[in-house]
Amino acid sequence: MAYDIVVLQADLFPAFAAYMDDHLRDNGIGNTSLFQPLAAADCRFDVDRAERFSSALCASTDGPGWRRAWVAMNNAGAVVGHVDLRDTPLPYTRHRCLLGMGVDRHHRGAGLGRQLLETATKWAIGRGWIDWIDLQVISSNAPAVRLYEKAGFVQTGSTSDLFRFDQRSVDSNSMSLRLKPSPDA
Ligand SMILES: CC(C)(COP(=O)(O)OP(=O)(O)OC[C@H]1O[C@@H](n2cnc3c(N)ncnc32)[C@H](O)[C@@H]1OP(=O)(O)O)[C@@H](O)C(=O)NCCC(=O)NCCS
Repeated sequence: MAYDIVVLQADLFPAFAAYMDDHLRDNGIGNTSLFQPLAAADCRFDVDRAERFSSALCASTDGPGWRRAWVAMNNAGAVVGHVDLRDTPLPYTRHRCLLGMGVDRHHRGAGLGRQLLETATKWAIGRGWIDWIDLQVISSNAPAVRLYEKAGFVQTGSTSDLFRFDQRSVDSNSMSLRLKPSPDA
């Protein structure tokens, strides 16, 4: 199936919000690995979360609180995947950003995750001032860990028992992709 990957803009936000709400409800259900540290009761893209996401899309990348996102559309015009980059909420880290992504359960295994990751990476390289893409992935989320490793991300750490919810303990890995050599190299 052919997909178009486009910048998430205001006109697409309602369709994106509906996709995200459905996507989050898939967290750890059936064949889908747990991919968000969210208790079952919180797996919703509620109004507050949507508002924060939407506002950050409008924030300038010159300051804090920015986010940029891309969505994959199928040939029926439905949103079936997403990737987003956002700033790191720590001082003196303008040279880094954080990545999040997902693909609708019916469209996985067709290369869309790889294409979305390439889109975000290309955008980050094009900025010129982003040297690293960082992410957090739940350690047991093998499809995502493998996708990131294949794209060149390297595991930089792992925290056992980082989250506890729904009577479970969840480990998390940190992974990073270096886009440019360090200034000291
Ligand atoms: C992780 C996810 C985004 C992958 O998307 P996808 O479109 O299915 O991935 P692709 O088809 O592009 O696969 C690219 C590579 O990822 C890896 N991969 C994807 N699915 C995999 C699976 N089920 N098991 C092992 N590796 C897998 C493979 O290395 C694959 O390359 P290959 O086909 O050449 O072997 C998707 O499974 C998903 O949305 N999962 C739920 C949400 C999520 O985990 N988000 C990431 C949170 S950190």
